[in-house]
Amino acid sequence: MANENLSVWTSIPFWRKSAAWVTGFASMLLIWLTFDTLGQISMGTDDDLKAGTIKRVPAPTVINHKITYEMSTKRGHEVPVIGEKEPFFGKEHTVEEAAALLHLGKLTSQTKNCMNCHTLLGNGAYYAPDLTKAWLDPMWSETGPMMAMTGKSTREEAMAEFLMHPSTYPTHARMMPELGITEDEAKGLVAFLKHMSSIDTNGFPRNFGKEEGLTNAH
Ligand code: HEC
Repeated sequence: MANENLSVWTSIPFWRKSAAWVTGFASMLLIWLTFDTLGQISMGTDDDLKAGTIKRVPAPTVINHKITYEMSTKRGHEVPVIGEKEPFFGKEHTVEEAAALLHLGKLTSQTKNCMNCHTLLGNGAYYAPDLTKAWLDPMWSETGPMMAMTGKSTREEAMAEFLMHPSTYPTHARMMPELGITEDEAKGLVAFLKHMSSIDTNGFPRNFGKEEGLTNAH
């Protein structure tokens, strides 16, 4: 026979079958990954929070809780930890109020185009600090400069004040411009930033909190 001495690598039926198997396997893998991702990124509920069920993207009512960022030795990076309740702008927000505030913040971040200068969850620019974990930036804590600078006694009030009048509180060579943000919009934005900081982003942005002051600014 003419074909007897030819290796399998030159056999057309072999390559045809291989192509079919590889395509089939890759399609199954993609379908599985799609469903896995949908499960991972869908937002949790208030009941999850009450039950202590950890979701990568917690419910909007997470703004009623203290959020910290702690090193996980198991995962090798920091993870957001949702702690006890704390008032947000002086009160506990209902499920509806929290959702409405977060929605306003998201819309404001889009209309004012924060992404033009900042990065949010991996999208945007690096002209200004990454905002993904801005809520957890030590500069807004009791020991940081911003509460004293703005004359406010809570993280959220200091942040809202800064967002309304950024040029009054410059901390860097680059200055954030006045964007005409109203008080309600500022509250919404702070809720949006607080919620975003509670999202488990597998430790991104990297090295957050390991530098002094504004993180990832330079
Ligand atoms: C034109 C560019 C620009 C736009 C648009 C912009 N910012 Fe900024 N932002 C900056 C710069 C520059 C800084 C650093 C300024 C400073 O520290 O004084 C900054 C700082 C900040 C900080 C403090 C960072 C930290 O680590 O805590 C927050 C929060 C913030 N911006 C939120 C926003 C939000 C929310 C929007 C959209 C509503 C926005 N910015 C739009 C340029 C911008």
